[in-house]
Amino acid sequence: MATRKIPGQSPGKSTLCIWGGEQEHPLYERATQVPVVHSVSYTYDDLDTWQDVALEKQAGHIYSRNTNPTVRAFEDKVKELEGAAAATSFSSGMAAISNVVGTFLKPGDRVVSIKDSYGGTNKIFNDFLPPLNIEVTLCDTTDFERLEAEIHKGCKLLYLETPTNPTLKIIDIKRLSAAARSAGALVVVDNTFATPINQNPLRLGADIVLHSASKYLGGHADALGGVICGSRELVRQVYHYREINGAALSAMDAYSFIRGMKTLKLRVERQNENALAVARWLETHPAVDQVNYPGLETHLHHDIAKRQMRGFGGMLSFSLKGGLEAIRVILPKLKYAHRAANLGCVETVVGPPLTTSHVECSAEERAAAGIPEGLVRYSAGIEDIEDLIGDLDVALSI
Ligand SMILES: Cc1ncc(COP(=O)(O)O)c(C=O)c1O
Repeated sequence: MATRKIPGQSPGKSTLCIWGGEQEHPLYERATQVPVVHSVSYTYDDLDTWQDVALEKQAGHIYSRNTNPTVRAFEDKVKELEGAAAATSFSSGMAAISNVVGTFLKPGDRVVSIKDSYGGTNKIFNDFLPPLNIEVTLCDTTDFERLEAEIHKGCKLLYLETPTNPTLKIIDIKRLSAAARSAGALVVVDNTFATPINQNPLRLGADIVLHSASKYLGGHADALGGVICGSRELVRQVYHYREINGAALSAMDAYSFIRGMKTLKLRVERQNENALAVARWLETHPAVDQVNYPGLETHLHHDIAKRQMRGFGGMLSFSLKGGLEAIRVILPKLKYAHRAANLGCVETVVGPPLTTSHVECSAEERAAAGIPEGLVRYSAGIEDIEDLIGDLDVALSI
């Protein structure tokens, strides 16, 4: 099928959310939507064709642990939104992270990262890599000088996440990618919180961008998956690692992501607006101790966020003066929020890191990561802002 790109014009993000990737796939019985191909294998009468497809000399599919047409359409959509040459997908965001780390790090290598990455990522760095004789150096997230110094000591991989989960710190991707380039290190950025609507790390110098698609890309909290994008060569290496270890995305989940992503830009724009309004409102509330949101002028790295992001995202966190006890009382009162270990969906979702992002960590590890026990992670949904603020107002006025 002919490409839908208009010569000389770059499509906008909304257009890419809708048409990205899909046009390259043959439509089934003239269906307008990408079909869900529930087939483990693909049949060939002609042995030579079968072999050519298996050897990737000819386009096609052999076995769905390797490739699947629905999964491919999802990968192509994300690839276009991230402005990448290639993409490959996984059964979860954690599988994406594990496969990237497993592809590029070997015994004797060194990885430099930040203390504030997602709790599961932290577990990989603290518990899984050191026994494999992979050295891990985790730096204070906002200490860019220290990060640069550690990069220059020599490392194979620089792993970043920005904004961070759950304290919404911002990292200067361009600055640290330049340091990594001069040290010959690969740069991986977890772009889950920002989404490709708000931020494109590859344009800022990163080599690989990854997402937990279970969050904003899907947007409806009904499918689990992960995806990475980058150059053809890097993605080919990660794809090969994944096709062998088997953490493949299912066709049904890929379809849910494709459908969810058609409204990604609309949702994220609304979530950007709602999160900013909630953050501004919370900032002035007497029960609130601190609000973390990169869109606030008071945020430590608001200037960097303004430079590298097109919107500040739908995530914020805030701490209550009453600590954990106040959360126990206030969170159950919210009518328009799920109390759940998820984020990025159309509904507002709240939860403390001790039951969500950092449940795997001990209280000491959370304290070391600068996460107060009284912190609430708030994922703004697409509800009417008057209702979200009204809901918080009632819950907080006790
Ligand atoms: C920033 C970030 N990266 C990765 C993950 C892991 O994704 P998944 O739950 O799809 O494995 C999460 C999950 O919350 C996350 O918040």
